[in-house]
Parts: sequence; structure tokens; C-alpha cells
Amino acid sequence: MKRFRAFAATASKGQRRAPMLAATALHLYFGAMRQTLASRRRSIMFKRNTLWMVLAAIALVTGGVCTAFAQGESSQKQQSLYERLGGLAPISVVVSDFIDALMPDAFLNANPAIDAARKRVPAPYLKYHVTAMVCQAAGGPCQYHGRGMKASHAHLNITEREWERMVTIFKEVLAKHRVPAKETQELLDIVRSTKADIVASQGGR
Ligand code: HEM
Repeated sequence: MKRFRAFAATASKGQRRAPMLAATALHLYFGAMRQTLASRRRSIMFKRNTLWMVLAAIALVTGGVCTAFAQGESSQKQQSLYERLGGLAPISVVVSDFIDALMPDAFLNANPAIDAARKRVPAPYLKYHVTAMVCQAAGGPCQYHGRGMKASHAHLNITEREWERMVTIFKEVLAKHRVPAKETQELLDIVRSTKADIVASQGGR
């Protein structure tokens, strides 16, 4: 301290200003450093926020893609009735047994029109057409090219009771082949969808 007072006393005006200038320079220097550091911090924060936003966007997009993929997978798992029944071969066997049980049925053949038609129309022809029809309705690759249900049954005068008899025979054949309950119901729904075109009268034969 003593040395500093001596220096102050002896030093020229210029010499006395030097420490003040140095202090100001240091102040300015550290001020500038502080600002640089603050702006760097801001830039890092900005970069960090941008990074989070990019990551969030990627998560959203990949999440959407994954959901779409999962949906695609689940719809692939949801098999058509045709696939669940095992395809064309098992369907053709069931239909063949159904026609074989239907054609000689005494209750149905008590209807003279049905009896006359079954004697005239070959069973393999009916089996072919009914197989194609069931295969197509079940979501299979077949195409039915036969006549419409109204045109092919109108002359048979099929009654409500004859219809019920046919449904009973159909159920027995499905049970014989151990077709599961869900698939049986879906097949019955397909057959039932043709009823309005096939049943011609409420007659009590
Ligand atoms: C009581 C019920 C039924 C009886 C007695 C019956 C009987 C017959 C007979 C006798 C024929 C031949 C007619 C002819 O050519 O003169 C025929 C045709 C046919 N039936 Fe049925 N049927 C019945 C229900 C059904 C049902 C439920 C289906 C389909 C789900 C079906 C599908 C067909 C087909 C595809 C043909 C051939 C059509 C063509 O000639 O192009 N039938 N049916």
C-alpha cells in the first residue's frame, strides 16, 4: 500500500491512468466473455429444443407407421370364411354330401315338382354350381356362373316347411363334418340370404 502511495505521488498523470485503463479493458473483456457464453448457452438450448422436436416428430411418424403395420398384420390374421373352412376341397366335400342327402329325401320328394327336377337334373351339375356359389360367398376365388336363385327354383313351388327340411339336412351335414359353430352360423347366414328367392309359397305340404 505504501509502495502504491509512493508510486501515486511520483508517477506522472499518464502513468497514473494506466491501471484504470487496464481495469476498464479487463471489465470490457470479461463482459464480452459473459455475453459470448450467454449466447452460446442460448444456442445450445435452441439446438437441444430442436433436437427434442425432431425426436418427437420421428416418434410420431414411426408410431403411425407401426400402428398401420400392426393393423395390416391383424387384418391379415382375420381369415375369410373360405380360408377357415380349409379352402375349395373341404367345401366341395361338404356340398357333395349335402346334395347326396337332399336329393333322395322323401319329405322333399313328396313335392312332385322337386321330384321331377331331381330326376332330370344330374347331381354332379348341382354339386358343381352350389360349390362355386358357397366358395364365392365365403370369400374364395371361385365365380358362380349358374342361373339366379329365383329362375332356378320358381317352378319347384318350394314351401316354408320344405325350406326348413333343407336347413335341417344342411345342419346335419355340417355337424357330421365337425364344422365349428361360428363357421356353421356363417354358412347358414349365406344359405338364409337366398330364402326370399327360393321359397315360393307358404303352402302346408
Ligand atoms: C328346399 C330347398 C331347395 C331345394 C328343394 C332345391 C332343389 C333344387 C333343384 C331340384 C334344382 C334343379 C332345378 C332345375 O334345374 O330344374 C336346383 C337348382 C339349384 N339350386 Fe337348389 N334347392 C334348394 C335350395 C337351394 C339353396 C339354399 C341353394 C344355394 C344356397 C341352392 C342352389 C341351387 C343352384 C346353384 C342350382 C342350379 C342353378 C342353375 O341351374 O344354374 N338351392 N335346386
